[in-house]
Amino acid sequence: MTNRHQVNSLYLHYPHCRHLCNYCDFFKSVPADFDQARESFQSKLERHWELQAQWFEKLGYSFAPLETLYFGGGTPSLWDYTGAQWFESFMQGRLTLAKNYEWTMEVNPAAWTEKGLSAWEALGVNRFSMGVQSLDARYLKVLDRVHSLDDVEALLTRMKGKHFSVDLMLGLPFSAEWKRDLKFEIESLIERGAEHFSVYILTVKNNYKHFKELPSDEQIEAEFVLTSDILRAHGFDHYEVSNFAKAGARAKHNIRYWQGKSVAAIGPSAVGYLAPTGHRYKWKGQQDEFEIEELSSEAIELERVYLSLRLDSGLVDFEKGFSPEQKARYQILYQGWLNAGWINLNSDRKDLCLSPAGFLMMDSVIESLMKAELIK
Ligand SMILES: C[S@@+](CC[C@H](N)C(=O)[O-])C[C@H]1O[C@@H](n2cnc3c(N)ncnc32)[C@H](O)[C@@H]1O
Ligand code: SF4
Repeated sequence: MTNRHQVNSLYLHYPHCRHLCNYCDFFKSVPADFDQARESFQSKLERHWELQAQWFEKLGYSFAPLETLYFGGGTPSLWDYTGAQWFESFMQGRLTLAKNYEWTMEVNPAAWTEKGLSAWEALGVNRFSMGVQSLDARYLKVLDRVHSLDDVEALLTRMKGKHFSVDLMLGLPFSAEWKRDLKFEIESLIERGAEHFSVYILTVKNNYKHFKELPSDEQIEAEFVLTSDILRAHGFDHYEVSNFAKAGARAKHNIRYWQGKSVAAIGPSAVGYLAPTGHRYKWKGQQDEFEIEELSSEAIELERVYLSLRLDSGLVDFEKGFSPEQKARYQILYQGWLNAGWINLNSDRKDLCLSPAGFLMMDSVIESLMKAELIK
C-alpha cells in the first residue's frame, strides 16, 4: 500500500525520575540502577519504533521530516549526555528534522547536567520546559519536589537567552492559609526570560495526603483568573486553557494535538494519534504493545469541538449551517454565557471563544450545547 498520510510530529516518553512527587500520576519510576534502566529503555524505544513502523505501513502512514518533537516524562533531562549520544545514532535512517522544527525537552531543575543539556542542544533541542511549579520553597516541600529554589536559579541562569517555558501549578495545599504571592512568582519568571507558561491546577484523588489542605474551588478559580490577568497584562496570550505565550512563542507541538493533527508516540505509556483515520494508540507501561482506539466520525467531530474550545481561536464559524431554530437556541445560550463572563469579549458570536473563567466551565458549556442539540 502506498503511504497516503504523512506524520511530522513525535512525542517520546522518558519514564525515569530522581524522586517521586507526591501528587504525580504520570508513568514514571525511580530506578535502582540508572545505567541499566537507560539501556533497557533504549531497547524498548527500538522495539516501539519497529512495531509502530509496521503498523503505520499497514494503515498507510509514513514519517515526513519532523516539524515538532517533544520529550516528556518522567524527567527526560535525566537521559543526559549518554542518552543524547544514543539518540543521535537512533535518528540515523529513522528521523530527520524539518527546516523550522521545534524540539522541546522537559527539564526538572534538579535533574540536569551542563554536559547533557549541551549535547542535546547540539543534536537539535531548541526549546525547554522547566518544571518550576512554584517560586515559594514551602510549596516545593509540600509537593515533595526534589528541587530547591537554588536549583531553579541555576537553571534560569543556564537558560538565559534560550526559548523556554515554565510549568506552574495552582490550587496547591495551604495556598489560601499561606497567601501565595502569584504576582511575585510570575513576574520574577517573566523577568528571567520565560516566554511561555503552562499552568496546571493540581489534580489529585481524595486519598491525597494533603487533600484536606487544598483550597476551595472558588479560591482555585480566583488563582486561575488572577494568573491569566497577570500574564495578559505582561503581553502573554492566554491561547489555550492551561497555556500562555508571548507572540511567536506558542507551543507548536501541543497545538498539533489541539488541532487534531497526527502525532506519533514512542516510550512506555506514550499516546499517539493519527489523522485523518482517527486511530489513537497508547503504549502499555511494561509490555512492548500498544492499545488501539478507533474513533468513529462522530467521536472525531465531538473531539474537534472539545479541543477547539480549549484554544483562543474557539469554534470557528460555529453558527454556519445552523437552522433558524438552532440559531435562536444558540443565541439564548450565548447571552447567558456572556452575562456569566464566560465569553471572550474580543471575539465574535459566530466563533464561540471562551474567556479565562469560561475555560474553567468548558464541560458545562459543552453539556448545554448537547442539550440544545447544537452538537451531537
Ligand atoms: C511530566 S511533568 C514535567 C517534567 C518533570 N517531570 C518535572 O516535574 O519537573 C509535567 C507537568 O505536569 C504537571 N503535573 C504533574 N502531575 C500533576 C497533577 N497531579 N496535577 C496537576 N499538574 C500535574 C506538573 O506541572 C509538571 O511540571
Ligand atoms: S518529577 Fe515530574 S514526572 Fe517525576 S514524579 Fe515529579 S511531577 Fe511526576
